[in-house]
Amino acid sequence: MALLIRNGQIVTSNDSYRADIYCEAETITQIGSQLAAPPGATVVDAAGKYVFPGFIDPHVHIHLPFMGTHAKDTYETASRAAIVGGTTTLIEMICPSRSDEPLAAFDLWKARGVGHSACDFTFHMGVTRFDALAESQLREIVKAGLSSFKVFLAYRGAFGVDDAELYHTMRLAKELGVIVTAHCENADLVSERCKMLLSQGKTGPEWHEPSRPEYVEAEGVHHLMSFAAAHGTHCYIVHTSCEPAVREALLARAKGAKVWIETLIQYLTLDKTHAELPDFEGSKFVMSPPLRDKRNQAFLWDNLANGNISTLATDHAPFDFKGQKEMGRGDFTKIPNGIPSLEDRVNVFFTEGVKTGRIDINRFVDAASTQAAKLFGLYPRKGAIQLGSDADLVIYDPNYKGTISVKNQLMAVDYNPFEGRQISGRPSVVVVRGQIAARDGKFTGDPIRGQYLKREPSHF
Ligand code: URP
Ligand code: ZN
Ligand code: ZN
Repeated sequence: MALLIRNGQIVTSNDSYRADIYCEAETITQIGSQLAAPPGATVVDAAGKYVFPGFIDPHVHIHLPFMGTHAKDTYETASRAAIVGGTTTLIEMICPSRSDEPLAAFDLWKARGVGHSACDFTFHMGVTRFDALAESQLREIVKAGLSSFKVFLAYRGAFGVDDAELYHTMRLAKELGVIVTAHCENADLVSERCKMLLSQGKTGPEWHEPSRPEYVEAEGVHHLMSFAAAHGTHCYIVHTSCEPAVREALLARAKGAKVWIETLIQYLTLDKTHAELPDFEGSKFVMSPPLRDKRNQAFLWDNLANGNISTLATDHAPFDFKGQKEMGRGDFTKIPNGIPSLEDRVNVFFTEGVKTGRIDINRFVDAASTQAAKLFGLYPRKGAIQLGSDADLVIYDPNYKGTISVKNQLMAVDYNPFEGRQISGRPSVVVVRGQIAARDGKFTGDPIRGQYLKREPSHF
């Protein structure tokens, strides 16, 4: 099995040049000009197109039991949606409930993916309870190939940990060389504000943002940074939505903390007015941290462009409007939190970032692929176009024009938050480990070829 990609403009996180790429089996084996195709090789003409390393989404939910229901996608649907949109590797959050054993959760989440995924995948291990038994199982899980934990400061009573548990999770992570990814919102502030708003009859989705304002998230980041400082633990703050939260992380970084920052395509392109839409439509835009006042977007774009914010993810968490979001009619605290976007992240980011000049094209690749590979132990197998790297490649047509709609999507959810949005750019061919898996918005690959990726801890 051989594949030759001719005449493309190769763009990586730090380079841009015209060359051919030759892939044998699953790997890039030659990069050069006028490479010859042996008989039987598949040849793709990429003239006029970019060739990017496969994109990586470092924050995805697929199997997600949450708020009395389940997220809608399966690996079958999510991985095809990812690939069609240019994402060839995803990192899913394992989110056990507090009563679940970590090892059983690890096995369950892995079983959902292995043999069911079209794209490659790995996990962040949710630490939702910390005691002696959990600790011994977390040690086993790290040995079995996971090198990142996830903690929730929010969702007390579901996934959230208390401060003692946070302290010991940070200790263990430091000892094992594991990076801790964290959802930062102060759970007590959220719960008190929810009670207050509901008691005032403020029950619609538009009250979700006021129930967890920007300071709630900023306090969460500050809180996390204090616990990270106790052990010198490396941290990654997921889904930062607003300037005060990012500033807290940057302040901690300036004082020496090893901290990296993620934002989401939703925060860059949607805002809290979406959650204020009438007829309960706003529920489609309820997630945590919430969509914010639009004035945050310029700050997020600038800090993404200059690298202060490392990565651009989705926090893909698909709940249908019918029957799921509707569970929160009359009480916004019961609306399942999450906004799907796995399929559209790259195209919306390219359109709103690269095409508008907000972000340089190399930094676009860095934020949507390379940084995640580097932070989570996948580089240079993923996130790079180098000899020996996996042949995960996106041949991208910057001249494509189209409109996002639920009618065309592969994500298994009954709405699209970007409905009607124009995009300028789309993958024309997506290659997963040397095999063509999508062409022009259609999945054409092997639905179960995706591999579970083991990762080594870094011993920071
Ligand atoms: O609202 C969100 N973000 N839902 C998914 C769970 C989480 O907090 O990441
Ligand atoms: Zn979260
Ligand atoms: Zn999440």
